[in-house]
Amino acid sequence: MTFGEHTLSFPIWVEFGNGKHERTGEVIDAKGWENALIVTDQGVRDAGIIDGVESSLEADGIEYEIYDDVRPNPTTAMVRDALETLNAGGFDVVVAVGGGSVIDTAKCATLLKTNSAPLSEYEVNTPDDVTAGSIENHTHPLITIPTTAGTGSEVDYWAVITAPDREFKMAIGQPPLYPDGPHLGADISLVDPELTASLPPRQTAATGFDAFSHALENHVAAGAPELVKPYTRHVMGLVPEYLPEAYETGEMEAREQLLFGSHMAGFCENYAGFGAIHSLAEVTGGMYPEIPHGEAIAAFTPSVMRYNLEEYPARYADVAEAMGVDVSSFSDTEAASAAVEAVEALIDEVDLPSRLAELGVDEGDLPAIAEKSLDTIEIHDNPRDADAADLLDVARDAY
Ligand SMILES: [Fe+2]
Repeated sequence: MTFGEHTLSFPIWVEFGNGKHERTGEVIDAKGWENALIVTDQGVRDAGIIDGVESSLEADGIEYEIYDDVRPNPTTAMVRDALETLNAGGFDVVVAVGGGSVIDTAKCATLLKTNSAPLSEYEVNTPDDVTAGSIENHTHPLITIPTTAGTGSEVDYWAVITAPDREFKMAIGQPPLYPDGPHLGADISLVDPELTASLPPRQTAATGFDAFSHALENHVAAGAPELVKPYTRHVMGLVPEYLPEAYETGEMEAREQLLFGSHMAGFCENYAGFGAIHSLAEVTGGMYPEIPHGEAIAAFTPSVMRYNLEEYPARYADVAEAMGVDVSSFSDTEAASAAVEAVEALIDEVDLPSRLAELGVDEGDLPAIAEKSLDTIEIHDNPRDADAADLLDVARDAY
């Protein structure tokens, strides 16, 4: 993503490490805030993952209430519901503890707390929408505490919210368009590997692969700045190394590496765009809300790579090298193909569904998926131009 004349600065305080969630109360107190709304979901709450956050708030004398009604693939109605709770209390800060659904819901509630238009006014479908500056006021203070190693949402300026009437996942977002300008996103993020310890294997695989796809799409995106590439390369090496172990054994060192990787990819999202993988996967998720984001991502990734590498083999040769493939005797085209094979092997190793058919997608919906993908912001950053016919070919290849 390029931002024209805009200088992009994304101010956020981040702390990474085991036990960091226990600093929530101290961090809030240091800001002079006294009353917090914890936004989470029932799964996170039932697993006891917010217990440490609660005791930290109690230890520092912070009053709080809990909103735990967020569900997967959050909708506009869920954002309104969370906003109602936020408006009802005198909360100085929102503390989002959860995966991407929780964090995105909390982000949008903090946006609507201080900006009066309906959420759809802040939807972005084109690069011009991103730089239009629709978010006029600073969002309500937000602390993000991720419990999955995948979305990077704790640190990026995007949120994805489904508009059920359109069966469409809206991308909501705005970078700070001038230093300290209003934008969507957290003020503080406490990134704590301990909180990902109980994530079940299937979600570990899906969210971890999502993190890989963020680094991959950021790396090859049209106009991706060089500054992101050391980080995207690192994440593309780290996920294949640690995801199988995190999936199979849940070992903490592997989980810590994955969380650091997903967080790093989240930072990169603020400087580079996504592409057709996210475009097609978000559209599919809007039409099939029961499909987890990371699983749709896995199904589309190899097919989109095959489409893109025909014009940009060198970029995908770089992906192969980052993933640890020995490409020394390969041409760029051979190395790019090896990158697709390495990605397919990773998907297979962590037992993710690799075909759209396995996810329950109706073959008759593929033309609509291709057509709707042209309305997403992500398609503008795909390295290779794609029209509806091209995207239909890709979707058929993924089926
Ligand atoms: Fe994603």
